[in-house]
Amino acid sequence: MVDRRERPLIVGSGIAGLYVALRCRELGLRPTVVTKGRLEEANTRYAQGGIAAAVGPDDTVARHFADTVRAGAGLVDRAAARVLTGEAPARIADLVRYGVPFDTVDGRIALGREAAHTRARLLHAGGDATGSSIEETLKRRVLEAGIEARERTSLRALLPGGKEGPVPVLSAPDGSGIEVDQPRPVLVATGGVGSLYRQSTNPSVTTGEGIAIAFRAGALVSDMEFVQFHPTAFAREGAPRFLITEALRGEGAVLRNEAGERFLVGRHPDAELAPRDVVARAIQEELVRSGRLHVLLDATALPRDRLFARFPSVTNFLLAYGLDPSREPIPVAPVAHYMIGGVSTDLEGRSSLPGLYAAGEAAATGVHGANRLGSNSLVEGLVFGERAARQLRHPAPGGPAAPERVIDVRPPAGEGRPEERASFEAIRSALWEEVGIVRSGPALRGALARFEELARRTAPARAGAYAGPVANAALTAGLIARAALARTESRGAHFRTDFPRPLPAWRRHLGLRLRAPARRRP
Ligand code: SIN
Repeated sequence: MVDRRERPLIVGSGIAGLYVALRCRELGLRPTVVTKGRLEEANTRYAQGGIAAAVGPDDTVARHFADTVRAGAGLVDRAAARVLTGEAPARIADLVRYGVPFDTVDGRIALGREAAHTRARLLHAGGDATGSSIEETLKRRVLEAGIEARERTSLRALLPGGKEGPVPVLSAPDGSGIEVDQPRPVLVATGGVGSLYRQSTNPSVTTGEGIAIAFRAGALVSDMEFVQFHPTAFAREGAPRFLITEALRGEGAVLRNEAGERFLVGRHPDAELAPRDVVARAIQEELVRSGRLHVLLDATALPRDRLFARFPSVTNFLLAYGLDPSREPIPVAPVAHYMIGGVSTDLEGRSSLPGLYAAGEAAATGVHGANRLGSNSLVEGLVFGERAARQLRHPAPGGPAAPERVIDVRPPAGEGRPEERASFEAIRSALWEEVGIVRSGPALRGALARFEELARRTAPARAGAYAGPVANAALTAGLIARAALARTESRGAHFRTDFPRPLPAWRRHLGLRLRAPARRRP
């Protein structure tokens, strides 16, 4: 009989979940992957720009490290950034070994550029279909390796286990057919929170449930105030907020206001290639000033052949909406894109709970600081996923150091009222309007009170019942609002009108945990 420690449960099927599953298998473990939708329906699939690694002839790991630290607005964990940038090339080699067809020019890897990168260092596949290409390749490998993969299966709770790990509770997404598993190591790779925001580039599966469930189980979470907004999503009434990749600006596209002015020139030395938070806020200010719903991303100066060959997903999407980007500018606006925070982990993917690991967007290592450098997220899933896989094979005690500031959150005393779709939609609107690109104390307080009230109403009232999706969404939204309210400064992706500048005293991470006594690793 196989030891349960050799049968880790991997929750989520984006780049981190699938890669860890493959590596676990190669290391002799018998992982199971569960995912609440289809295996390929993960945020990874929608990544366009590329995956960052210092593999170009004029690039170095030290440069990639320096760019990562600079973009992160004073809050990057340098040890994590060293690991990320140092191990990125080896992890890219793994993807090549698995068969990801990275684009080449004259037999050499083709490299693109994005904002705040001082070198072209984005590997891409199928032009701007990088995420989809990686996701499909990893999925195929997982199925070929015979790894057990359960679709339409949600993690509902993590109960206290023992040395082997927590006890996962699984169900169909509608909550039917609850299955209480055996204690086993669990890796949370459930991605971010994008679709909790009314406007987002993310697919609907990204509701932050893994983070909420780990938090309910007692895991430390951190950096929840740092939600990254992507500056350029397609902004047309009735159309989805499709990502218009930053790599387009890397190729020379520029942003203009309704008067045709390049409003980022003079605002930042790198203009349209300034860090993402700077560009997103500059656009937001233009929208408020003009009263319009979009600014314009102008790619008309790019050679048409190059534009269509390098960005087939974007150009095909736009053509389907009757817009030829080689002839007219693209209406764009900022939307929620990436959760920088999540389940706190150390550099080996260990959370603060024994046997519970996290990787990818659901995890917070501190590597992105307050503002993630574009295309560092896919590679993060691989680099810290590899380390988590090795820990799963050879577990050793450890876990994240608690941040200097940790807020104890009272567990919601539940009333167990039925969940309603309208409540979920109310959360999405409130996060977007009050915990969005520009925040303020009064708005954050109002939103937090509403999220807590909703979390209380919907949390289970009786023992043995498990929180549903709305209760978890309310909890996650509350964690974001609470952290944003506590951080009385502006830094990176977190901007407050009542505290508009970064403060040296806030050059620290912020953690959140349940008020219940923390369980310790043995
Ligand atoms: C983009 O292609 O603009 C997004 C890349 C990222 O978020 O890393």
